[in-house]
Parts: sequence; structure tokens; C-alpha cells
Amino acid sequence: VFSNIVRAPEDPILGVTVAYNKDTSPIKLNLGVGAYRTEEGKPLVLNVVRRAEQLLVNDPSRVKEYLPIVGLAEFNKLSAKLIFGADSPAIQENRVTTVQGLSGTGSLRVGAEFLARHYYQHTIYIPVPTWGNHPKIFTIAGLSVKTYRYYDPETRGLDFKGLLEDLGAAPTGAIVLLHACAHNPTGVDPTLEQWEQIRQLMRSKGLLPFFDSAYQGFASGSLDADAQSVRMFVADGGECLAAQSYAKNMGLYGERVGALSIVCKAADVASRVESQLKLVIRPMYSNPPIHGASIVATILKDSDMYNEWTVELKAMADRIISMRQLLFDALRDRGTPRDWSHIIKQIGMFTFTGLNTEQVAFMTKEYHIYMTSDGRISMAGLSSRTVPHLADAIHAAVTR
Ligand code: LMR
Repeated sequence: VFSNIVRAPEDPILGVTVAYNKDTSPIKLNLGVGAYRTEEGKPLVLNVVRRAEQLLVNDPSRVKEYLPIVGLAEFNKLSAKLIFGADSPAIQENRVTTVQGLSGTGSLRVGAEFLARHYYQHTIYIPVPTWGNHPKIFTIAGLSVKTYRYYDPETRGLDFKGLLEDLGAAPTGAIVLLHACAHNPTGVDPTLEQWEQIRQLMRSKGLLPFFDSAYQGFASGSLDADAQSVRMFVADGGECLAAQSYAKNMGLYGERVGALSIVCKAADVASRVESQLKLVIRPMYSNPPIHGASIVATILKDSDMYNEWTVELKAMADRIISMRQLLFDALRDRGTPRDWSHIIKQIGMFTFTGLNTEQVAFMTKEYHIYMTSDGRISMAGLSSRTVPHLADAIHAAVTR
């Protein structure tokens, strides 16, 4: 009965790792998936995460019971505080409901299904470009996906005029997906002044913000600074949704730990919203896994561990920023044609190089460098040892 099944293509991002794993060259380099690597090119488990895990393992009271449908209560509370700020009026007034999610993707999916069931507008606007999984998540959840202009390839910066025009023309009540910081794949974020204009426009038209916050602390090294955009929208008293991921900022990629928060206008609304979120989650995966959320809660509730985390987080962010400078310098030293200043201007894990599909294919074939075909490279996968190899490949690709 399955003999006619057509082979599906690999995922545009995770498929890059599949191809990389098949390559036997000793010089191969994976700059596809956004996953942090050390200077030695190794995955990193944060010290503070190891410490938290030790505490959990040595605690005899810990059992493997099911979590509630909405996840670990303490984790949910701490996650809301992390993104909205400890003094957020929305939290103090109990207007926020937070449920544990399967990292960013799972949290977005639960939020999207909730909106498809209970929100009157089914159109969601996503930026061009955006993370490749976004349109799939929203479409499969039953929303209708439209786009707004975001990136200007000419300036390699924000197309702010286009963004305002497109959101200005969106129907009343439409949902708008916003990258809280470190826009993926472009690394281009609005300034705070621009965020304020976006907020005013969206509120004046009743557009509903849905934030994807996958890089809090990873963009600037400051957890508060990277949550500014979200906090501006919460401060005005209006509704919003926010999906959080701990994949990058705590290095908990495979633990699949994240959260979905919905900020409402009143406490009793938030509590009814939560009751409906449970109906979304229960038939989807019943209840979330316990381990990753316990690690996060252990770290966030202890001031000493929290501080240790912020130091380790800043070190990761700083290493990425230093890779930007190294790559920029290496291209300048090679006299590589074009302006490469966007490498140092862009924010977060990725550089949107401006290399085209053919150039990417050339770099993979000749230099064994793996990246997404849109020219995005994960700066977190680079080290001072591998920068010259990448710079040689880029130079060859653009001068050929
Ligand atoms: C990425 O964009 O590389 C990451 O968010 C990982 C993923 O799941 O795609």
C-alpha cells in the first residue's frame, strides 16, 4: 500500500547536517544548522547545566511521574519572568498564561493551533525571508500565511519602509510573526525606535503580535536587552503571544525545552485561555518531558546558578561576535570583492552572506563547507582555525 510513496526532500536546514555527515573529507565544515560549537569545533554543554543535572540526579525525591498537561509549573513561571521581566505588570496581574512547549517549534505550533481554533483572524504575516520552518508550522496548524517585506538585499539591512507598508495594508486583527531578536536568517533587527513605530502601527490596526524568541541573551549577551521588543508590546497593556526556546541560550537543543506565553487583558481570560491550551496539547503529545524543564527551573531559581549562566551565555555571544570580526578581516586581507561590512553589523547566530545558490553549491563541492542554500552561515559553527578556510572558499566563489 505504500509502494507509490514519493520520496520527500530533506529539510533545508537539518538536511544540511545529513549531507555533512556523509562527507568523508577531513576539512569538512558544517555551518548549516544554528548550533553552538567551541573554539575546538565541539558541541558545548554549559557548566551550569552540568551542575543542575548533578543536583537533579542526586535528589532522591525526584521521580519520573507525568508532568501536568501544561508542564512544570515552576518552569513556566520562571520562563515568563525571563522574557517579560520580573516586574512585568502582566505577570503581577496574572494576565499571562505560560505552558511548557517542545522548544521553539513546539511552542509556536501550540500557539498557532490555539489561534486557529479560537481567534477570529486566521491570517498570519511572516517576514521575507524567515526561518524555513515558520510557514510550515503555521500552515499545518490551519492558519493562512501571508508575507511582509523585511530584508533589503541591496542594503543588506532592514526594508523598514516595505515592512510598514505591508503591515499597514494587513487586515484588521491579522497575526504578525515577529523575531524578538537576532532575526533568522538575516541577522538584521529593527532598532528600538523602529520597534516603537512597528508597535504603534500594529496596535493602531489591532494586529496581534506573535513573537518567536529563540535567541534571548544570544544576540547581545544581555537577557534583558534581547527581550526589549517583546517587553515594549507587553508594556502597552495589549495582548501578545511569545514562544521561547532554551535550545541556544542554554545549549539544551536536544532536550526540546521551551515555553508559550499568551498575554491577555485580564486574569480570568488568561485562565480560560490556559484551559483551551490544554485541549490543544493533550491530543498532540499529552504532556511535555520533564528533564530539560527541570534543568532550566533549577538554574533560573537559584541566583548563583543564574549568574553563572549569564557569564557562560555572554561568553558564547562574545565568541560569535569575535568570529564576525575575524571573517571580515580575513576577506579584507584577501581583497575579496564586495562590501562585507554586513558580517560585522548583523546580529546573532547567523550571517546572511549574500552568496547565491550556485556559490553555495560551489563552496560545498570544492571546499566541503556546508551551509543553507540561501547563503546563511552559522557563525557559531566557526572557529579561528576554520575562518581562513571559509574566507578562501568565499573568495574563490565570488571571484570565479
Ligand atoms: C536553525 O535555524 O538552524 C535552527 O533554528 C535549527 C532548526 O531547527 O532549524
